[in-house]
Amino acid sequence: MAYKIPRGTQDLLPGVSEKWQWVEAKFREWCRLYGYREVRTPVFEHTELFRRGVGETTDIVEKEMYSFQDRKGRDLTLRPEGTAGVVRAFVENKWYAEPQPTKWYYMGPMFRYERPQAGRNRQFHQFGVEAFGSVDPYLDAEVIALGMRFFREAGLRGVTVQLNSVGDPESRARYFEKLIEYFEPYKDELAEEARGRLYKNPMRILDSKDPRTKEISAGAPSILDFLSEEAKRHFDRVKDALTLLDIPFELNDRLVRGLDYYTFTAFEYTVESKGSQAGSIGGGGRYNRLVAEIGGPDMPGIGFGIGVERVLLALEEQGVGVPGDAAVDCWLVTLGEEADRAGVRILEDLRAAGLMAERDYMGRKLKAQFKQAERLGARFVAILGDEEWKNGQINVKNQTDGRQETISLDRLVEWLKEQV
Ligand code: HAM
Repeated sequence: MAYKIPRGTQDLLPGVSEKWQWVEAKFREWCRLYGYREVRTPVFEHTELFRRGVGETTDIVEKEMYSFQDRKGRDLTLRPEGTAGVVRAFVENKWYAEPQPTKWYYMGPMFRYERPQAGRNRQFHQFGVEAFGSVDPYLDAEVIALGMRFFREAGLRGVTVQLNSVGDPESRARYFEKLIEYFEPYKDELAEEARGRLYKNPMRILDSKDPRTKEISAGAPSILDFLSEEAKRHFDRVKDALTLLDIPFELNDRLVRGLDYYTFTAFEYTVESKGSQAGSIGGGGRYNRLVAEIGGPDMPGIGFGIGVERVLLALEEQGVGVPGDAAVDCWLVTLGEEADRAGVRILEDLRAAGLMAERDYMGRKLKAQFKQAERLGARFVAILGDEEWKNGQINVKNQTDGRQETISLDRLVEWLKEQV
């Protein structure tokens, strides 16, 4: 029987995996410059963590989690997102007792049982950051700026920030009352899911994809009219800092985000894209209650998650070249038994000197070896026959200009290093 890859997952094969390494390196580099250090947490956590952290009324918890019991009957879930696990690690390892802020980044696979389409997978990957311990609005701006810096350095154009404030719990309580009041007369017209959320979390209704619900939502009051003085001040500072940083943002008071933990700033990174999903390349916000919710002290946090598949799709759509090949510096051809044997060592010496070196293992004839060298983009082909080997010499051909030289075998490594 032939096995097939599970729906909604992908193999990242050579040629593509190098592109991933390239964006990963970019993300790491910029995290370092902004003072974020890497954290690696498990791919699965106790299910309860996500129920509490992400929120019971979210799509993720209601219907998208990969949950299972292990052999001892523990309820576990493949992480649908990164924040809850990182907050757990922050609390469990008592990093709250260190001087703050704590600035961490992560990258890795996340799992959501969603309907797969372009830019939407069941196993997908995120680059994320989380900064704990400060309520400074300039930290919000820094986090948003780091994401934008990454997009820019990766070569992505036309990214905008959709910005909203979902206020503090007090602002939101007042807003919820008004929202319920607004939606109640339309109760029977709302999509079933939205109706179910009316009294539990009416803001989720604004997030609905159902056309009639969307129509009704259009007239709903705006959260921005219900912000407390503190939330308003915070939001103004964030906007001011983004302006200072020349970061293009659009206010979007309908931006709810798919997770329940947000307070104050909420944002999404969007880019023009053919796929309806693919345009939303990242999102994040502040979560000033989450650390306490997960059993830690009353400590704020803010972060984002960027969808790596979506970034790569957008780069491709924009025709931005991302290095995808591993070019060979030197292809070594050996002709004759003695030369073949000597080649074993020469190849190793070339690699030890930092050169990407390859040889034939398929018994190809000379012509076919040149063809293979070309296919692999080899810059030089070094040819060693038994005769040359006896004389301590080797022929090297520059594949770019076709020039050939005979050089002393002792000098091969040094000679190549000068050229590449
Ligand atoms: P999120 O908006 O659920 O936020 O996910 C962040 C990004 O992950 C999305 O903008 C999207 O690019 C990508 N993404 C989500 N689901 C999929 C999928 N099924 N297939 C492909 N890409 C997907 C979070 O996860 C929060 N933890 C972000 C955060 C960090 N907030 C604060 N800190």
